[in-house]
Amino acid sequence: MIELKNVSKEFVSPKKYPGFKGAIKGLFSNEKVRKVAVDDISFTIEKGEIVGYIGSNGAGKSTTIKMMTGILNPTEGTCLVDGIDPSKNRKENAQNIGVVFGQRTQLWWDLPLSESFTILKEIYDVSDEDYANQMEFLNRVLELDEFFDRPVRTLSLGQRMRADLGAALLHNPKVLYLDEPTIGLDLVVKDNIRHAIKEINEKYQTTVILTTHDIGDIEELCSRIIIIDEGKKIYDGTLEDLKDTYGKRRKVTMEVRKPDLLKELQLFQKIESVNDVQITENDYDSVLDVEGKTYTVSFDKHKMQVPQILSAVMELTEVTDIKLQETELAEIVKEIYNHGGV
Ligand SMILES: Nc1ncnc2c1ncn2[C@@H]1O[C@H](COP(=O)(O)OP(=O)(O)O)[C@@H](O)[C@H]1O
Ligand SMILES: [Mg+2]
Repeated sequence: MIELKNVSKEFVSPKKYPGFKGAIKGLFSNEKVRKVAVDDISFTIEKGEIVGYIGSNGAGKSTTIKMMTGILNPTEGTCLVDGIDPSKNRKENAQNIGVVFGQRTQLWWDLPLSESFTILKEIYDVSDEDYANQMEFLNRVLELDEFFDRPVRTLSLGQRMRADLGAALLHNPKVLYLDEPTIGLDLVVKDNIRHAIKEINEKYQTTVILTTHDIGDIEELCSRIIIIDEGKKIYDGTLEDLKDTYGKRRKVTMEVRKPDLLKELQLFQKIESVNDVQITENDYDSVLDVEGKTYTVSFDKHKMQVPQILSAVMELTEVTDIKLQETELAEIVKEIYNHGGV
């Protein structure tokens, strides 16, 4: 249903200088700032999947969604949504997709909600029969009746979100993009929204991609999550696997005197022979940076320990400094659990 191949997006904007003098300087300067917001991302999403698109602020989530909706063109790579290139056939793509940005509404602020729906019916060319059917369904799952005649600006945040979701689904799109759909909502409304998303997905096999910081959204909705960090995809799999595999990962960086000596190091064999334990190559990843003179090992903390790694390395060369960190993914797992939810 959705296929991204090596998609990148680079923003180029004029360089900003601080202060008033800086503003003047900026007027006459041609200096540009380049920002790679999305960096060589590929994935395929099948019809009917609900995928959580996760990452910290500024990771590149919204930029990816904007490319899938046709609002932005990729700088590199290709994006296909139901066989259509959104940047080339934006209108055709629009018929297939629904979009909700949690931070702002797509509805007409001063009009009664009912009129927004009438306008959308025209825009998307929905037949009277389909409209009636879909409204019956949307009213049942989102209870729009309660406030259908009120101007959008008078709605509470929760009502507005239900309204926005309903509006995005009026033409029964094949793909639904939700950017932070539960942000700022209280628990009851969150729950309603999640149930609605689930029902729509089950009834129509709608493909759903949502960005969220809310672990509840992920746990209740997403059979799969894709994590991006600084524009790069760093994980694609289930939440369970992420917790099992990366929640326990640690990372140790060692500064060493003679990194060349570590080139041939088979760490797991070395640790096994030194410590009499059983380790496989899957229990760790290692990166040797000869120029920076560092050796970094990400490892499963239940399988091996820092002193074991250290002693194996010190058999070959002197270690001059050592830094212990969580891996990016372990940090992200923690972050979603600490900041997410209520
Ligand atoms: N129009 C733009 N011009 C320049 N930089 C942008 C633009 N839009 C986003 N960025 C930058 O790209 C990065 C990714 O942004 P975004 O996709 O909004 O992240 P997220 O949604 O994950 O928080 C950020 O560093 C952001 O400042
Ligand atoms: Mg965003």
